[in-house]
Amino acid sequence: MSDTRNIAVFASGTGTTLQALIDNQTEYGYHVALVVANRTCTALERAQTAHIPTLQSCDWTKIGHALTQHSIQLIVLAGFLTIIPEWICHKWEKRIINIHPSLLPKHGGKGMYGVHVQEAVLAAGDTVAGCTVHYVSAEVDGGHIIAQATVEVLANDTPETLSQRVQQEEKKLLPQTIEQLLNNAK
Ligand code: GRF
Repeated sequence: MSDTRNIAVFASGTGTTLQALIDNQTEYGYHVALVVANRTCTALERAQTAHIPTLQSCDWTKIGHALTQHSIQLIVLAGFLTIIPEWICHKWEKRIINIHPSLLPKHGGKGMYGVHVQEAVLAAGDTVAGCTVHYVSAEVDGGHIIAQATVEVLANDTPETLSQRVQQEEKKLLPQTIEQLLNNAK
């Protein structure tokens, strides 16, 4: 694997996770070299404001070319709401990661995104919530777990308040994990 420390971030929404990745680049020694979105979204605007090359596309051949063109070492899915085709999962095996707002294998899979995840956590009566960074495989949220961070569930939590605290942890866990993975790849 080449040691560019260039990462591509894939996003579909508000891009607050992308923003944390942009803000932490220097501290954690990686470079956000490309942002890919499958639709018009605030994440794209954040990338443009930070002068990061962007690609809005659903064409995986085109996306594949952009990854090569920008010498991407690691793909980071940060709120990317599209299933990754199996051939990309294979081609980028162990070089594509996702952050999910639960302690997988709990509360993962299809339909488990955004506030739905913390609704499920509260409905299950869990006392601990959290987030997971995992490798991406063909199974949604089913790839090997790399790192997790926990958050205590409070008696008066709503899905929104819990979601907020989990997202704070996500924004620390993800840059840390990226740094570790890039260091291990050396
Ligand atoms: C994060 O909670 C992440 O866990 C999930 O999507 C959310 C991204 O939100 N995969 P944002 O678009 O980065 O604000």
